Amino acid sequence: MKKIVMACLVIFMMTGCSIGEKKSAVFPDGDFFLVGHRGASAYAPENTLASFGLAEDLGADYIELDIHETKDGQLVVMHDKDVSRTTEGHGDIETYTLKELKSLSIVEKKKDKTTVIGPSEYLAVPTLQEVFDQFGDSLNYVIELKNPSHYPNIEEKLVQQLKQNELIQKDKKGRPRAIIHSFNEKALKRVHKLNPDIPLLQLISFDEGEEAELSKKKIEKLLSYADGIGVSYEALTPPFVNYMHEKGLAVFAYTVNDPETALRLQAMGLNGIHTDKPDLLGNEK
Ligand code: G3P
Ligand code: CA
Repeated sequence: MKKIVMACLVIFMMTGCSIGEKKSAVFPDGDFFLVGHRGASAYAPENTLASFGLAEDLGADYIELDIHETKDGQLVVMHDKDVSRTTEGHGDIETYTLKELKSLSIVEKKKDKTTVIGPSEYLAVPTLQEVFDQFGDSLNYVIELKNPSHYPNIEEKLVQQLKQNELIQKDKKGRPRAIIHSFNEKALKRVHKLNPDIPLLQLISFDEGEEAELSKKKIEKLLSYADGIGVSYEALTPPFVNYMHEKGLAVFAYTVNDPETALRLQAMGLNGIHTDKPDLLGNEK
């Protein structure tokens, strides 16, 4: 008996999990999602169909992508609101029509090397619909509302598009087909009001060197609209993760690119990590 108790204690110390912990009802227990951050952006130009396709091949459970709106009201996938870092163009996305945006070559800057590619079918700025059409139900999606205050009604458009693509539901493994996350609390609350069935993650940024901590008041507030949080992995500690789980909030970490950290976070009981390298744990399909 003593031996069993000792073994349990060792497992508890190794995993940082508490007995009887409650995890978010939205995310199946024991799952550890690998979320391809902007696709497989360590290996292919970020937020392109090429990058998402590679993320799928490398075993990502989800792809993470950032959305904005064009001058003619189309939802498109790009990280920055200004096109100049990732394309040959200049200026804000909202000043481009979809056609103009599609005609831009993709620019990839890595260390001292700048490569100009395309535009081609897989290496161009994709619309959100093109991503859904390309990957259908072979992938699940984490969609970030970027700079939502610039785009009146982007939340309505996104919810509508998720509905049309039958993404407000679970897959065969019981995982949500689509999750929305954002640093913008107002936008998430708006989505929650439009459709409370869409899983929402509040992105939170802690200062460098700061340990993750949230007041009871903040947690109560989160529970009124969100299913979990996304936090920079450096800030996470086992007691914080356990506390979030006890409260019923899922915890995701960004952006993890080395296997040791990924395994440490998995042992901490995280619900998933965002990574530029979906193959970091050797899960290639
Ligand atoms: O993975 C979380 C992340 O998407 C938030 O940061 O700047 O990469 O969009 P960013
Ligand atoms: Ca993002």
